[in-house]
Amino acid sequence: MDHDTRADFFDSTAENYDEDTFHASVAEALVLPLPEGPELVLDVACGTGFAAYAALRLKPSRVLAVDLSPAMLARAEAKAPLQDPSGVVTWQAGPAVPMPVEDHTADVVLCASSLHFLGAVAFADWRRVLRPGGRLAFSVVSGLRFRPSGQFEAFVPRDLTFPTDETEAAALAAGFVDVSATTFAVGTRSVFVVHATAP
Ligand SMILES: C[S@@+](CC[C@H](N)C(=O)[O-])C[C@H]1O[C@@H](n2cnc3c(N)ncnc32)[C@H](O)[C@@H]1O
Repeated sequence: MDHDTRADFFDSTAENYDEDTFHASVAEALVLPLPEGPELVLDVACGTGFAAYAALRLKPSRVLAVDLSPAMLARAEAKAPLQDPSGVVTWQAGPAVPMPVEDHTADVVLCASSLHFLGAVAFADWRRVLRPGGRLAFSVVSGLRFRPSGQFEAFVPRDLTFPTDETEAAALAAGFVDVSATTFAVGTRSVFVVHATAP
């Protein structure tokens, strides 16, 4: 499926996206254990910016947030006067794989609630962009719960095996070190949250 078709689909979800607070909670969980002071944080497939804004608590020099959907980005940028008055976050429209940065320049890569749209190909790119010792944090849906159907099914890449437990979730970060995976749940909804370090 081409990027324009994908962007149109996600544009159509933008207006009400922030009403679902689960996504904001997942983004917070990704950022929570990370150390302060990164130079460059990347928010991969940022949507309306939950992870990018959550990352501001780390006091980064820069955050680059990339998403295919102009409408999602417009929602994100509309929050900037309140949430990012200093303009630390740069919002960029376009594909998030590959991320538009040089090799080994990022200190943190965040990918919240989006891996199931990007596919396993994202991991090689995250290895590429992270500095040695850089931190990766992503969420991933469980293969026991995630059953894409109808129009939605076409948006899900085939190269990703969805994990059914924390061990399988951690295994997605092959090639990274200090990998940990936990189950993050709010009410009846849950995802795996994975943290890892670039070797
Ligand atoms: C479920 S939303 C998650 C948004 C955000 N990360 C969050 O935590 O709420 C998925 C996002 O992935 C974006 N997306 C899907 N495929 C993409 C791609 N190949 N490149 C960039 N963004 C993509 C969509 O536009 C959408 O904003």
